[in-house]
Amino acid sequence: MRGTSSFLIVANRLPVDRVGDNQWRRSPGGLVTAIAPVMQRRDGAWLGWTGAAGEELKPFDHDGMHLIPVPLSSLEIELYYEGFSNATLWPLYHDVVAPPVYSRVLWDAYRAVNDRFARAAAEAAAPGALVWVQDYQLQLVPAMLRRLRPDVKIGFFLHIPFPPIELFYQLPWRKELVEGLLGADLVGFQRPGGAQNFIRLCRRLLGTPVQRMEVLLEERTVRAEAFPISVDFGEFDQLVRDPNVQARAKEIRGELGDPEHVLLGVDRLDYTKGIGQRLKAFSELLKEGSLMPGEASFVQIATPSRERVEEYVRLRNDIELMVGRINGEHGQLGRQPINYFHQSYDRQELAALYCAADVMVVTPLRDGMNLVAKEYVACRHDLRGALVLSEFAGAADELRQAYLVNPYDIDGMKRAMLAAMRATPHEIGRRMRSLRRRVATHNVDKWASDFLTALES
Ligand code: ADP
Ligand code: F6P
Repeated sequence: MRGTSSFLIVANRLPVDRVGDNQWRRSPGGLVTAIAPVMQRRDGAWLGWTGAAGEELKPFDHDGMHLIPVPLSSLEIELYYEGFSNATLWPLYHDVVAPPVYSRVLWDAYRAVNDRFARAAAEAAAPGALVWVQDYQLQLVPAMLRRLRPDVKIGFFLHIPFPPIELFYQLPWRKELVEGLLGADLVGFQRPGGAQNFIRLCRRLLGTPVQRMEVLLEERTVRAEAFPISVDFGEFDQLVRDPNVQARAKEIRGELGDPEHVLLGVDRLDYTKGIGQRLKAFSELLKEGSLMPGEASFVQIATPSRERVEEYVRLRNDIELMVGRINGEHGQLGRQPINYFHQSYDRQELAALYCAADVMVVTPLRDGMNLVAKEYVACRHDLRGALVLSEFAGAADELRQAYLVNPYDIDGMKRAMLAAMRATPHEIGRRMRSLRRRVATHNVDKWASDFLTALES
């Protein structure tokens, strides 16, 4: 039996996916890659849900990480995860692009599950431990944990946008949520605007004095700061140098009929991602003859996500109807302008897709960061490939040399896609070189170490 840990990650999900009965595989993604070495160095543990209903598993070790499962019943998955997290907070924090559901039953479940995570963390933390709580599903945990364990240091990082106070005020439990976050010593956001929204909210809603980016509570201060998350640049950069990945990229272009331009979208199938808007822009380019039949092929990967939440069910129907219509109108026998896939892929295949794409189209209506944009950049050491990027993605703060677009402006997106397709190799290379410089020097290790250094200082 293992004792307590001096470094704890508390997140909605564990960093592993089940591949067999009691067999696990490390989840892909920068967060785990960045944190795993810190966990190993500091005798760390990770608390989270396995993704299955009603599963009571004992803590176990995997791939050098100590994992502590927190169980969720199927009703809690419905009310806390699909409900309050993804039908209330998710749309509210993303500019209400879908109407948030406000329900007391969902709120009660959110509070109860946050309380379970806080208790589990309190039990697992060694005296004076450092506890890092992740994301919007667990915003009450910092204050709950502090009540149980005033000796620990608590950091919180929000991976999604933090909304302006005019929107946040809609939330019937707004005060409780802000007080939950104020249990942390450091609250991290993706963008400086999110940190400023939070500070303003503390002053206006709670009447708490603030000084620059600090909230002055009676007994301590809470700092708010932006830490833009990133990807494991080196991993992607290496991956695409593998001849198998290069061969696969070539094969993908061949399977598409070797069009002059391959455009690519890779997103969770989420209404915040602006998938419909970008497909509309592309279809208008075909309709008005700016693109000739067969000249360009759009590959849209839409990863299945939150499939029981009503807005996601509706979105899937809308997108699939739209793809069918566009292909029906503009396709030819054996050649469709849009190749749509509702599937997950491994890293190799994703990297090959990134390499095969001349234009990566990332057009969220609102996004905390958008790692896909940074992954694409990390994959293009050949300096070929253009990025069309929404100015409403956190990544737009850093990736200024992308073709920046307003995803609500269909004509603007059409112009940007055409400009990206028609740019000279010199222009494409100039932009990509600058994008790569940024992502290479601000990778996910830097994000994790900047946050932890700030928390410990
Ligand atoms: P979000 O966190 O909202 O899903 P991000 O763009 O920040 O959006 O992160 C998405 C992550 O999921 C990226 O690391 C991306 O590589 C991965 N991903 C997206 N689509 C797929 C897919 N079809 N198969 C595997 N991984 C995917
Ligand atoms: O980036 C926001 C986020 O909710 C992450 O916390 C999560 O890893 C990802 O999107 C996927 O969401 P879910 O855990 O709901 O499948």
